[in-house]
Amino acid sequence: MNDKKDVLAAAGPNTRLTHVGNDPAEFHGFVNPPVVHASTVLFPNAATMEKRAQKYTYGTRGTPTTDALCAAIDELEGSAGTILVPSGLAAVTVPFLAFLSAGDHALIVDSVYSPTRYFCDTMLTRLGVTVEYYDPAVGAGIAALMKPNTKLVHLEAPGSNTFEMQDVRAIADAAHKGGAVVTMDNTWATPLYFRPLDHGVDISIHAATKYPSGHSDILMGTVSANAAHWNRLWEGNFALGICGCPDDAYQILRGLRTMGVRLERHQDSALRLAEWLEGRDDVAAVLHPGLPSFPGHALWKRDFKGASGIFSVVLDGGSPERFKAKAHAFLDALRIFGLGYSWGGFESLAVHVNLNDRTICKGPTAGPLVRLQIGLEDIADLRADIERGLAAARAV
Ligand SMILES: Cc1ncc(COP(=O)(O)O)c(C=O)c1O
Repeated sequence: MNDKKDVLAAAGPNTRLTHVGNDPAEFHGFVNPPVVHASTVLFPNAATMEKRAQKYTYGTRGTPTTDALCAAIDELEGSAGTILVPSGLAAVTVPFLAFLSAGDHALIVDSVYSPTRYFCDTMLTRLGVTVEYYDPAVGAGIAALMKPNTKLVHLEAPGSNTFEMQDVRAIADAAHKGGAVVTMDNTWATPLYFRPLDHGVDISIHAATKYPSGHSDILMGTVSANAAHWNRLWEGNFALGICGCPDDAYQILRGLRTMGVRLERHQDSALRLAEWLEGRDDVAAVLHPGLPSFPGHALWKRDFKGASGIFSVVLDGGSPERFKAKAHAFLDALRIFGLGYSWGGFESLAVHVNLNDRTICKGPTAGPLVRLQIGLEDIADLRADIERGLAAARAV
């Protein structure tokens, strides 16, 4: 056990995050890999060129920088291969295009990231795929929804904005029995807190834009496949010509080094604020899988190693006509939380959630839903800011 790879495979998450990906010995000892910008790659002679018989052949097919990030993600996900794409949304659409054909049926969880639904309802439908949404609580009951032409079952757990958990193993087993590929958007947990491929998922999807980036400045997606599905994913992406750029790959790899310690802080602050909010009279409910009161808590505890820093709060709403005004008053009173849609960065953010596109999980009715991304600020300051928001909402 003195090979570094073996030692790292058995090491703790922060040790692995610190060392996975590149080998400094390959780059003259420099700790970080070079950022290789490339379209053209030269071949030494015609025979090598004809057979493409060398490691790198063209910029879209990988560089030492993108390879270093893919190797790091493979280590973390336990995957056979990873592709990089320019956004988290592309990390969903590319595998859908790689695995689905006209005439196929796809089952998509109803609490899915809303732009994923938009893609399904527009382009995927136009290409001849029938899309059906299912209840995140379906579990093994997904078997009843499988049709002879069901080729893909997509999970996202916790669900976007409302954080419903899913019985990943039960769904994956039933989907496989019916011959479907199982994809999962695992952005919330990161591979540190949940490894989808260990629970029967074939394709693990991440918006690396969130925690791996961590600094609200990079867009990137990663798609990681098990051995049985890697070739088809790779070929699909090869046909589409979609690739991650080396500068962004470098920054995501840099972000991974500190992701573990950042996540510990996000997790701790978010959970403490969620517990505090749950005890307040002006809050109707807190949607956070780490809270024992949350319906998906048992599944989260069974399968996940931690919780990240994003959850939602249902404000005590009064009558539905006042929901929007209350949510806006809450948001406008905030001084530290920014009003922004992304998450996973160092700074706290809040957004009034709209669930109008849901067909099954229509969301809470007791009041307006506000999603909070808890950043790295001091928790007392965040609590005081939320107090400001709640006071303003109460006054409406
Ligand atoms: C669960 C989830 N998946 C995917 C994405 C898309 O990521 P990106 O913003 O990089 O397109 C997001 C973005 O908010 C998300 O919340």
